[in-house]
Amino acid sequence: MDNGAGANHKVKFPADFAWGVSTSAHQVEGNNFNNQWSAWEKAGRIKSRDHVGLACDWWRNAEQDFDLARTLGVNALRLSLEWSRIEPREGTWDQDALSRYRAMLQALRDRGMRPFVTIHHFTNPLWFEDKGAFAAPESVRLFERFARRVVESLGDLCRDWSTFNEPNVYAALGYFLGEFPPGKKGRFIQAARVTRNLCLAHAAAYRAIHEIQPQAQVGWAQHYVVFKARKPESAIDRWIARFIDRRFNNNFADSILDGRAPFPLDLFGDSLPEVKGTCDYVGINYYSRLRIGFEPRSPRTMFFLLTVPPHKPQGDSGIEVPYGEAYPEGLRHAVQRFLPFNKPLYILENGVPDRADRIRPWVLESTFQQLNTLLAEGTDLRGYFHWTLTDNFEWNEGWHLRFGLIELDPETQARRLRPSAEIYSKLIQGTNGHHG
Ligand code: FCB
Repeated sequence: MDNGAGANHKVKFPADFAWGVSTSAHQVEGNNFNNQWSAWEKAGRIKSRDHVGLACDWWRNAEQDFDLARTLGVNALRLSLEWSRIEPREGTWDQDALSRYRAMLQALRDRGMRPFVTIHHFTNPLWFEDKGAFAAPESVRLFERFARRVVESLGDLCRDWSTFNEPNVYAALGYFLGEFPPGKKGRFIQAARVTRNLCLAHAAAYRAIHEIQPQAQVGWAQHYVVFKARKPESAIDRWIARFIDRRFNNNFADSILDGRAPFPLDLFGDSLPEVKGTCDYVGINYYSRLRIGFEPRSPRTMFFLLTVPPHKPQGDSGIEVPYGEAYPEGLRHAVQRFLPFNKPLYILENGVPDRADRIRPWVLESTFQQLNTLLAEGTDLRGYFHWTLTDNFEWNEGWHLRFGLIELDPETQARRLRPSAEIYSKLIQGTNGHHG
């Protein structure tokens, strides 16, 4: 693989480059019963039929994983806040929950790790879901109020905030593919309205956070998938690949970039000027490449067929759909897509489902090369966060897909380092002044 300039010579990573691991509240904390994902689980919608249970037991003892993270040498850790703990009923704030988050952020700082906090990572309190969640215009005000409260409470311990994790996934999987709660299918217009409210909520929170903490760095995490036509000779497949690429990868992001309303609302004269420019950085979550094509016999996936050619490197497959090709070069596509923002970039998630650690070492080494090359070319990349530290509860796939550098037995809570943990650790160590 040769990407031209800088591919073969190493650069010094900036001294303050964030080398991190990434997590989210519902997936690691355990015993979250008051959000829509626990209701989804109760309704039997987790494909693996697994229970999140204690997850990684972070609510009681995140510190044991923080200790492990420290031994790996990471200097940053991304976690999210569980809204349903902090505001269990509308307008009621739980000080104990906020204290627990304070203790977690302090524990990270004590261990030399910079906390990156995501305010919303897929989960909603049940009361908020019952009001229609982000399909309801009131969500904008409610989310802004929540963001204000957490930044007032935690702002002395954290400077780096993401408002939303993957608003494009939240809208597409919840309202178009029906894979995530609320499980709506084919609601194309509603998905656009949800995205619109997410944009407005993001912009309102962006301003509120800066009001409270002028030096805050506020962005969000955009999920990016490399799409390729399943049959390159088919004009329909090529069109679909291009269409989905723009509609999915640029959804939400385009509104922040230039204030346009989400497609197709923009076609009806709608626009969002107040959203334009509301970010201090762009966070990118990148995992895989997928072939996409038209398949009339596949109504379950809205007539799209997502495939991976058998000879391509792949981690473990999802229960019903492939997770995607492991394609480290795609990181470059993702980064290039968001250069027009002219803002610092963070890779806030990247990884592979790979229980046996078959290809993760290769993914890590190749991704490291990509980062190296991008920096050599002058890209303003500020950090890389591997998803994830310890195996956690992978949404609809439950315990089926394992993304951890550390293997977890959810029953016994026993942890065991995968070989990749040491590889990541060595890669990070090697950047401490040894390149140049
Ligand atoms: C991302 C999600 C994260 C995790 C990884 C594997 O899309 O943000 O919570 O599930 O995928």
